[in-house]
Amino acid sequence: MTNENDIISQYGRKYASGEHIFKEGDHGEEMFIIHAGSVRITKSTDEGEKTLVTLGAGDFFGEMAVIDKGPRSASAVANEETVCIVLNEELFEQQMQRNAKIVKKILKNMSARLRAMNEQLQNLTTKDFNMRVVNTLLLHVHKNGENTTLTHKALVQQAGMEDNVSKLDEIIAAMAKAKVVSIVGDTVCVTSSGNIEKYKQYLEMKKAFGES
Ligand code: CMP
Repeated sequence: MTNENDIISQYGRKYASGEHIFKEGDHGEEMFIIHAGSVRITKSTDEGEKTLVTLGAGDFFGEMAVIDKGPRSASAVANEETVCIVLNEELFEQQMQRNAKIVKKILKNMSARLRAMNEQLQNLTTKDFNMRVVNTLLLHVHKNGENTTLTHKALVQQAGMEDNVSKLDEIIAAMAKAKVVSIVGDTVCVTSSGNIEKYKQYLEMKKAFGES
C-alpha cells in the first residue's frame, strides 16, 4: 500500500521561501497540493504585484490551467519553505475520473474562491482603510477560525496596503486598544469574530454620523 512518505518522495517538490512555483501567463500542465508551508497566489496589476490569497497545508492550486488548458491565471510564490505534491495532467485526470469526491471538492473550492474574490474585490476597492483591515480580518477568521494568527506581512498583503503600512499599523494599534485584536510579536490574533463584527458596526455608525 502506498503511504504518505512514498507519495511525497514520488510527487513532492520543495520550494525555498520567495521562490516562484510558476508565473502568471506560463503554460501549465501540473496542479499542486500544499503538503507543508504556504503559498501566495499573486496577480500583477497597474499598482504592482497584489496577493489574491495565501494558501496553507491541504489547499490546492494550479488546477485552472490544467482544466481549461489556458495560461496560468496568476503567479504562485512559496511564502516560506514549502513542499507541494505535484500532479501532472495525466494523474490529475485519472483522479478526477475515478473520484467524484475530488471533483466535488474542486467545485466547492472554486465556488468559495469566486465568493471570496467578489468580497475581496469590494474590499480592495474601498478607500476606507479601516474597513479594509476589518474586512480582511473577518475573512481570515471565517476561513481559519477564532484565535488563529495572521502575520503582519500577510495582513498587509491581504488588505492590499503595501503602500500604506503605517496607516495599517495605526488601525491595528487602535483595534488592539479596543481589545478587538491582540498583537503578539509579529502576529495579529482575532480572538472573537463577534467582537470584530461589533467593531465593524461601530465604524459604520461613526461613518453614518459623519465622523471619519
Ligand atoms: P492556474 O490558473 O492554473 O494558476 C494560478 C492558480 O491560482 C489558479 O490556477 C488557481 O488555482 C489559483 N487562483 C487563481 N485565482 C485565484 C483566486 N482568486 N483565489 C484563489 N486562488 C486563485
